[in-house]
Formats: sequence, structure tokens, C-alpha cells
Amino acid sequence: MNPDLEWDGAKLEALAPSWAQRVIFLEECRSTNDEAREMAANGLAHESLILTEKQTAGRGRRGQAWSCPPGESIACSLVLKPSEKMALWSRFSLAAGLAVAEALDRFGLSAEVKWPNDVWVKGRKICGILVESAQDSVIVGIGLNVNTVTFPEGLAHPATSIALETGQEVAREEVLVAILDEVRFRAGQIGSGFPDLLESWNTRCVLRGKAVRLETNGETKTGVMEGLSPQGELVLLTDKGREKILHADFIRLA
Ligand code: BTN
Repeated sequence: MNPDLEWDGAKLEALAPSWAQRVIFLEECRSTNDEAREMAANGLAHESLILTEKQTAGRGRRGQAWSCPPGESIACSLVLKPSEKMALWSRFSLAAGLAVAEALDRFGLSAEVKWPNDVWVKGRKICGILVESAQDSVIVGIGLNVNTVTFPEGLAHPATSIALETGQEVAREEVLVAILDEVRFRAGQIGSGFPDLLESWNTRCVLRGKAVRLETNGETKTGVMEGLSPQGELVLLTDKGREKILHADFIRLA
């Protein structure tokens, strides 16, 4: 890593040598997800991480832009080469959101998950996750606000960071290692371990039991979010009964 930048390779190495060896650090790139996809197609190994200080074309879900201030945040993409069948890969979205929320607990936060994979703290978004698949790989892109204390106006959601919530700056290397450990654990549960993943996810779900409005396949639906089904779909209790929803363009409190 470049010692002039604030990411401290030596600290990462001291904290978690095995993860440090898997990091590819880019001072600047368009999007770590795009870099990861390209490198994965060229043979990059399972559990390699593309980490950057600056994205010039960071992407969020539904084509939205994502910006992470250099030096204050984490923008990275983890490459997974799953052994599980492709039909289960959508579960990585749930696994990643839950894993980040659990990692944040280690820093004194009480983080919740918002379907499918945002992480929120006290009604504010702290982390966005973009999971994409490419041939034999899954790319888990994570954008986390760590030491940011001011956010631009006009964001789609109110935002927060670890520093804002705890009143203290934290070493990004420590946060990154905690996230990677938790993602590895939860990503290992998309198969037979899925019931355990689901139970933890449902417990942390910020929308569970609340009236929500969502848009799916161009249709707006309202109802009470009951949690996730055993297969990982969102269960919405509407006037017409229970509906299981796999994808939605947006979901918010009604
Ligand atoms: C969202 O909330 O819409 C998802 C945001 C995901 C942002 C991360 S930052 C690292 C990775 N690279 C990207 O271009 N996007 C993800």
C-alpha cells in the first residue's frame, strides 16, 4: 500500500495478516465493484479484496451514484467464488448486510438492517452494499461511513457514521477486518446455515412489524413487513393476504 495515503498497510498486516495478503489497494478507481468484476474474470482468487481511497464512479443500487469521502470511509469490494449453487447467491445480500451490522456492534453501535442490505443506525444510513454476480464470482461491494462528520445536502437518506454515533474516530483498518471476518462467517451460511442467518437478520430488521410501502415490478404495495420467509423473501402482510417479495425498487415506512 502507498504509505502517503491514510490506509495503513502495516496496521492491516498486524491486525489480520491473512486478510492483508488478500488486499489489492487502488489509490483511485472508477468503482471497486467494476475493478473486482474485471479481476475476478481474470482469475482473481476467492476472498480477494479491492480497496480504494477514491472512487470516481462509485455505484449504488438502482444505478444511483455513491460517493465516499477519501480518508474517512471504506469503499471496497470482496470477491467470492461460491461453492453453493447459483440459485442461492441472492442470499449473499442478506449475509453481507447482517455481517456489517454485526461488525459495527464491536465498535459500540446498535446497527439494524434494512431490506435487502442497507445498514442503519438510529434511523440513519451508515452503510450501503451492492452485491453483483459475474460468471463464477459474486462481488460484495461495501461503502461504509467511518469517520465522516459532515455529509452533503440532498442525500436520498439521512446519513451517519461510526464517528458521529460514538463521538470518536476509529481506525478504518480495524473496522475493515471486523467486517471481513463477519462477512466470511455469514457468507458461509447461505446453504445449510441459512436458518441461523435468517433468525439473526429478522431480529435486526429495522422494518419488521412496521407498515411499509414498496415498489416491485412497477407496482406499489403497502402492508406490514413481517420479516423474511424461510427462503429469504420479504413477507408483506397486505389487505389481500401474505405476499412474498424477492426484489423491490424501493421500500420505505408507509
Ligand atoms: C447502495 O446503498 O445503494 C449501495 C452502495 C454501495 C457502494 C459501494 S462502495 C464500494 C463498492 N463500489 C461501488 O461502486 N459501489 C460499492
